[in-house]
Amino acid sequence: MNLILRELTAADERTFFDGFKEWAGEDPSWYTFSWKEGMSYGEMLEILRKEALGIELAPGRVPHTMLYGFLDGKIIGRVSVRHTLNDYLRKRGGHIGYAVAPKFRGKGYASEMVRQALEFCKSLGLKSIMITCSDTNVPSWKIIERFGGKLEDRILDDEENELMRRYWIGEIPSR
Ligand SMILES: CC(C)(COP(=O)(O)OP(=O)(O)OC[C@H]1O[C@@H](n2cnc3c(N)ncnc32)[C@H](O)[C@@H]1OP(=O)(O)O)[C@@H](O)C(=O)NCCC(=O)NCCS
Repeated sequence: MNLILRELTAADERTFFDGFKEWAGEDPSWYTFSWKEGMSYGEMLEILRKEALGIELAPGRVPHTMLYGFLDGKIIGRVSVRHTLNDYLRKRGGHIGYAVAPKFRGKGYASEMVRQALEFCKSLGLKSIMITCSDTNVPSWKIIERFGGKLEDRILDDEENELMRRYWIGEIPSR
């Protein structure tokens, strides 16, 4: 599969906004946390650069890298990689979160993005990678289990009133 997972560059502006159109009517955070209405592409790149380096992080945020999945000149999805965990991410979010645009689902693209994201996590020095997903999100936990995810537990996210699965790829750290 010719899918390349990488950070955005200045040359990707058109591709980024075209990819965003695939999320019309969906929660935009599945595509981007950083771009807001009225913001230029260059401003967003600067935010992403600082977030990856951990510069001027908003309260409660940890350093993270946003990686986009490019296939045949289109962005089909993204993976957010958190470099470290905080209390919130330990409950919901974990180290990596991923999404594929509705039109491109069911073709193995999320699995391939996660495979490449796990390599990226290794390059950050992460030994155990936490991934959380809703207990009812069958495609998501199939992906996690395919990569050897061990189920630590299921916990109730009170805010969303949703049962979440917490998985680890690698050893489950003692709490
Ligand atoms: C979850 C999501 C990323 C999966 O993307 P995808 O590209 O369709 O995933 P894949 O094609 O790699 O499929 C992954 C697995 O789920 C299975 N699957 C895909 N769609 C499915 C469905 N509707 N029902 C059951 N299983 C399904 C696939 O067969 C595959 O399993 P396999 O490895 O045993 O064959 C995508 O549905 C999505 O973006 N959802 C919204 C965001 C989200 O929930 N992200 C995860 C947060 S933890």
